[in-house]
Amino acid sequence: MIVNTELENKGNLFPSKIIDFKKDVDKLYFTADNDVILELTVVRDSLFRFRYTTVGNFDNDFSYAITKYASIGYNKLEIEEKTDHFEILTSKLRCKISKDDMRVSIYDAIDGMLINEDETGFHWEESYEHGGNIVKMSKTSNDGESYYGLGDKPNHLNLKGKRYSNWVTDSYAYGKDTDPIYKTIPFYTGLHHGKAYGVFFDNTFKTSFDFAQERRNVTSFWAQGGEMNYYFFYGPKMMDVVESYTDLTGKPHHLPPLWALGFHQCKWSYYPESKVKEITSTFRKLQIPCDAIYLDIDYMEGFRCFTWNKEYFPDPKRMVKELLDDGFKTVAIIDPGIKIDKDYSVFKEALENDYFCKRADGDYMKGKVWPGECYFPDFTNPKVRDWWSGLFQELIEDIGIKGVWNDMNEPAVMEVPNKTFPDDVRHDYDGNPCSHRKAHNIYGMQMARATYQGLKKYSYPKRPFVITRAAYSGTQRYTSTWTGDNVATWEHLWIANIQAQRMAMSGFSFAGSDIGGFAEQPQGELFTRWIQLGIFHPFFRVHSSGDHGDQEPWAFDEDVTAIVKKFIEIRYQLLPYLYTAFWNYTDHGKPLLKSLVLYDQEDVQTHYRTDEFIFGEQILACPVLEPNAKGRRMYIPQGNWYNFWTDTIIKGGKEMWVDADIDSMPIFIKEGAIIPKFPIQQYVGEKEITEVTLDVYYKKGKEESELYSDANDGFDYTKGRYSLRNFKLTGKSSELIINQHKEGKFTTPYQTFNIQFHGLPFDIVEVQLDNEKIAHKSLRVNGVESIVVDKNFSELHIIGIKSNS
Ligand code: GLC
Repeated sequence: MIVNTELENKGNLFPSKIIDFKKDVDKLYFTADNDVILELTVVRDSLFRFRYTTVGNFDNDFSYAITKYASIGYNKLEIEEKTDHFEILTSKLRCKISKDDMRVSIYDAIDGMLINEDETGFHWEESYEHGGNIVKMSKTSNDGESYYGLGDKPNHLNLKGKRYSNWVTDSYAYGKDTDPIYKTIPFYTGLHHGKAYGVFFDNTFKTSFDFAQERRNVTSFWAQGGEMNYYFFYGPKMMDVVESYTDLTGKPHHLPPLWALGFHQCKWSYYPESKVKEITSTFRKLQIPCDAIYLDIDYMEGFRCFTWNKEYFPDPKRMVKELLDDGFKTVAIIDPGIKIDKDYSVFKEALENDYFCKRADGDYMKGKVWPGECYFPDFTNPKVRDWWSGLFQELIEDIGIKGVWNDMNEPAVMEVPNKTFPDDVRHDYDGNPCSHRKAHNIYGMQMARATYQGLKKYSYPKRPFVITRAAYSGTQRYTSTWTGDNVATWEHLWIANIQAQRMAMSGFSFAGSDIGGFAEQPQGELFTRWIQLGIFHPFFRVHSSGDHGDQEPWAFDEDVTAIVKKFIEIRYQLLPYLYTAFWNYTDHGKPLLKSLVLYDQEDVQTHYRTDEFIFGEQILACPVLEPNAKGRRMYIPQGNWYNFWTDTIIKGGKEMWVDADIDSMPIFIKEGAIIPKFPIQQYVGEKEITEVTLDVYYKKGKEESELYSDANDGFDYTKGRYSLRNFKLTGKSSELIINQHKEGKFTTPYQTFNIQFHGLPFDIVEVQLDNEKIAHKSLRVNGVESIVVDKNFSELHIIGIKSNS
């Protein structure tokens, strides 16, 4: 059904002629004679903000999405008034604003190419029911244009030809076409003629996007209230657009503790204590690595947050400690609904302090969730967030819980048709009082933020770890996320793959799915394929609803257990590689997963690919998404790639069949890459890592790789106590040189590198370390030569003679 279309609507209003122009430092004001004002802010040379009012002045400027740490400042700003338009010129963009109708067109400042232009541009419709406007924007869409982004939409990566809306929604057992679901990330990237730009519509009301669905050459977006307020990012590389958006809405405030990148086992619910212990000890007995165990709602007393069911968990502090002694970090769920119970201290405190959300006419917002009738804290009030953060003291500081999982924070309300609060509920919105229409999409984000504040305080000097289900743009600063209540089907495996990639290109990399499916039960084969994909997802957790059977790695058959163990072990070996990629994400905003289009936008073959992706910088992975498969067809991007299992070198730029029986999956390493690996551990910190393996993939030519290390937890790294190693590889016919550049004040516990050379086209005859010939005992096993060297070398020079093999 088409709702609120651009064409259909007869009530649209438009800006009239521009009659006034003013400049105030980086802000330009264009005023039309019907009180429309366009405020254009030049944030950076390649980042403009467009903001419109229809009433002659602007509301208070406030956003939950934009971080105060965003980089701002431009090199050049020139404004010219021409006969029929204004021109704004920076070193990256030339923007024209038509005097007649305020329409905007944006060009590449260097080659003059038209990047994006308004079709109708800004227009609006007055909202009689609620006041204010329904604000709309339409842009022309090029024939060959593709669109990406929008967070967790469970559909094809390329959004072209689709229409979506954003209204954070509890979506149990959603499917491929369900829209909207849990997240609101109103940011997309457009790509045409090899150039990419981005649009972030920072409006928290319900928003909609139409990507050339209604009209083939028009892309539009609109909101049910608030301002037309969007940011325009120019690449021309898609990677730059994504990094720039991530910079604006915030990179994670810090790295996660390394254990959070290990494997997590969860279920609704593991109880009582003996069951929890049975699960954790089975992991250790079977030697399947695992770092985190979860407590779902049944650990509480009658589902009251911050309480314990003492029958199931008589001594939580002791249990949590015993689990920790065995390497398990305990993560507990906390929901927003507070049970109405006058004997319950959290309820009483919130009531006394007036912290609960109220309806427009003054009654409390009452709704049913797990504990029965609840009231809900207004997390948009800073005082409430402060109070909430204090509630974690006992759980974290005293009991020793290491992570908190925020759920149902859309907010979800049961047994009501709209599944959430009614529109009239009032919110503080950090001193900008408003209705739920405006606060709905950020409610969960503010809950996760308050939880994060609590964990940060009470976990200190360790790093906090939070997970949220609901999110708005910017939530990635505080927390990780998962994709909600999925289903144990092959289609959902496909969806999980897309969602993790899409979240990464929407600035939110620390994401994963309920591996194996939350609802229903997977066959062992589906579970195995899902674990294989999961090892490449930043958040790596099995979760399921208990009504459908067990979903531990041993719940199927022995073959499944063995393969799952093997893949989880690969994840643990790759931890230093993943941690380095995570550092690149928190430091530079680089997405942890790169869809092929993000990796190589110039290759048009990548524009419609969905299954293959790059994990970190140099590993190409592609899940098997069908039952009974012995492999699959996939696209190998340009360049040469080593098959991870066989070291066979493949020339990319083509689609091909790749063998992958159930104990394998297509994984390739970019030639020239240096992949750091840890030994297998049962949990992070089990062993002191005294040696790191560097898998070196020979290339004739040059390639760079990195290895980031720190204390794996704590904040010392922010004071310079980290170690960053940059490796420059240069390969020649019978030589290989690795130059290492080191940075940072952290002394790594590892002293040596075990260097494993893959694909060397020669036999090693001489090894020089920092210009000195060293005795080397190289070992050639299955074609892989290995040598052990001190970690602090500056130059490693391998000289060989052509081998006959
Ligand atoms: C919701 C969550 C799910 C959790 C359940 C019980 O359905 O999405 O992960 O297990 O609630 O808390």
